Amino acid sequence: MAIQKVGVVGCGLMGSGIAQVCAAAGFETVVREVAPELVDKGLKGIEKNLARLVEKGTITEAAKGEIRGRLKGTTVIEDLKDCDLVIEAIIEQLPAKKELFGALDRLCPASTIFASNTSSLTITEIATSTKRPDRFVGLHFFNPVPVMRLVEVVRTIATDATVYDEVVAFGAKLGKTPVRASDSTGFIVNRLLVPYLLDAIRALEEGVGSIEDIDNSMKLGCGYPMGPLTLLDFVGLDTTYYISQIMYDEFKERRFAAPPLLKRMVLAGWNGRKSGRGFYDYSDAANPKAMKF
Ligand code: CAA
Repeated sequence: MAIQKVGVVGCGLMGSGIAQVCAAAGFETVVREVAPELVDKGLKGIEKNLARLVEKGTITEAAKGEIRGRLKGTTVIEDLKDCDLVIEAIIEQLPAKKELFGALDRLCPASTIFASNTSSLTITEIATSTKRPDRFVGLHFFNPVPVMRLVEVVRTIATDATVYDEVVAFGAKLGKTPVRASDSTGFIVNRLLVPYLLDAIRALEEGVGSIEDIDNSMKLGCGYPMGPLTLLDFVGLDTTYYISQIMYDEFKERRFAAPPLLKRMVLAGWNGRKSGRGFYDYSDAANPKAMKF
């Protein structure tokens, strides 16, 4: 059965991006948040993104209207009951995800495929909250979702091969390059990215270079679009700390252990760009200044 209608649960940074790319790719899309203000905030962000694409001439005004027309916001979980695929992008907490998928499992027909956008939790474990582990996958997108061209499609030992291929094809229909990954904590990208980001913090702690010099080294020396400390501020220090704890817990390897400086910055509430301060101070957003430690 072809995927036609997509449900997205969560309309924050990731959920709104996922909903936008689904609607833009021609899928009827319902996005659910817990409160009307959050639905409005998410949809306004999507409208702003689409308006920018019109300004740049990437899409026409008519196409923008069509994309918006395929997108419906809701606070009612029952509105997802006739979706062919439901993608979850809520808070990274296992109990919350299990509760949600338990409810969706009771609501949706047996044919509906479930996907989680988790970056570090175990898909196999989330799927135990349902009676359809064979129709359960990971679909891990990257921030900013409309721009980043990758989606990791994660299979567990219980995922049905036909369902998996269908979701891989869905990822390609979104205009992304789908990569196949097994349900190993962190999948492919975070397995490689997290130790790199943590090593950048360790290099800073050990005085190997300043914030700007570490960032410029990787940006200009390796052609990365952002230096590691800028990327940490972009991803969120709290998010990275949380992911590193899950990965360390799984693998018990030092390369995944959070450096003390990261822990202290998170304790102090310096979570990066979203909190106004991380490795850089964003009081003047257009001109971030490296912090002095
Ligand atoms: N939403 C939509 N579009 C956006 C955007 C956003 N939030 N931010 C930037 N863009 C668009 C811009 O409109 C612009 O489009 P055009 O080229 O068509 O004009 C394009 O992206 C480039 O933007 P800018 O010129 O403003 O700035 P830039 O060249 O520095 O690019 C960036 C911005 C795309 C974010 C780039 O810096 C980049 O690729 N950074 C690395 C991001 C990254 O590594 N993300 C993955 C993080 S890890 C993760 O998400 C998963 C996890 O589990 C932790």
